[in-house]
Amino acid sequence: MDTIKDILSKTALSKEEIIRLLSLKNKEDNDLLIKKAYSIKLNSIGNKVFLRGLIELSNICKKNCFYCGIRSGNTNINRYSLSDDEVLQLVNFAQEKHLKEIVLQSGEVNNDDFVLRITKLITKIKKITSPDFRITLSLGEQSFETYKKWFDLGAQRYLLRIETSSEDLYKKIHPDNKIHNYNIRLQCLENIRKAGYQTGTGVMIGLPFQTIENLADDLLFMKKIDIDMVGMGPYLEHKDTPLYKYKDTLLQLNERFNLSLRMIAVLRIMMPYINIASTTALQSIVPMGREQGLKAGANVLMPNLTPGKYRGSYLLYENKPCIDEDSDECIDCLENRVKMAGEKIEYDIWGDSKHFIKRTKNE
Ligand code: 5AD
Ligand code: SF4
Ligand code: FES
Repeated sequence: MDTIKDILSKTALSKEEIIRLLSLKNKEDNDLLIKKAYSIKLNSIGNKVFLRGLIELSNICKKNCFYCGIRSGNTNINRYSLSDDEVLQLVNFAQEKHLKEIVLQSGEVNNDDFVLRITKLITKIKKITSPDFRITLSLGEQSFETYKKWFDLGAQRYLLRIETSSEDLYKKIHPDNKIHNYNIRLQCLENIRKAGYQTGTGVMIGLPFQTIENLADDLLFMKKIDIDMVGMGPYLEHKDTPLYKYKDTLLQLNERFNLSLRMIAVLRIMMPYINIASTTALQSIVPMGREQGLKAGANVLMPNLTPGKYRGSYLLYENKPCIDEDSDECIDCLENRVKMAGEKIEYDIWGDSKHFIKRTKNE
């Protein structure tokens, strides 16, 4: 049988090899994997970190995903939506802080009013930013026409997590109805790419019923659809959700955390040039979790710009960090952490996925 060192010297990994890497238990082998992934990142991207300012536009959501704290069935939260002025202020703040990109994220809504609102908002943001300012959208499933319209107005990237690439598991963690349909979600990902966006997806790690084989398939799925960006992190239970009853069946938090780092590391080995985010969910388990994500091969951080007074209402999971902080504090805090990790923040730069640049050159 190949040793871990043998496997790590390969450029293409089989499913069995991915499963072996994801299952590593002993510290020595685990360290080898993380070091290998980091050295690949240094070669392909360098010790750079791209910052994207995250704006949680609204927690209103028509969906009822079994894992999520802002699902429509949760009546225990206050619903909010930032005004356009509030968003524009945050965009200006981002620019003052030398960030060249924002992510607009919200619960899923796709009625005409919402689509029109976003259409107008993108236009307003474009007016106050330079042409190279990047807008990433994370606004769920929409029609192809809507994706295309927003792209043509100047949004360049779109994130839509597949959540899990296994249709069976997808069915177990979502209600069984038309608005929670695996194939439609997949079609949306294709449409996003077809519309011209740098396309991002992601999964949750450590879900109830999820196996290591599922996770290996998730990585192979990302490779197969030739994704440009990935954001993935540990699943964290939330007491106001249906999946909470499975909490005793889950991996221990520290195991979920380490498995998430291995997922990042293996993905970096498989796709050296994509953008990989070190997600906030990592930090909710380990205070320096996001920095460890960078050391495992991630290269993107998303400081939260959402005004402090709304943060407590955007709790997808429990123990979300930074809910008592404001935008300023989060950026400063992240800066310090990144420095401590020996990485370098790239300011005034828009951090496009190198993978995207390569793939569109060849088309
Ligand atoms: N734990 C971890 N991640 C979650 N998300 C939603 N609920 C949870 C949870 N309980 C993630 C989903 C979604 C993203 C916005 O947040 O992957 O796509
Ligand atoms: Fe809505 Fe997204 Fe939460 Fe599902 S995961 S309930 S779509 S905010
Ligand atoms: Fe938000 Fe540290 S990153 S307060």
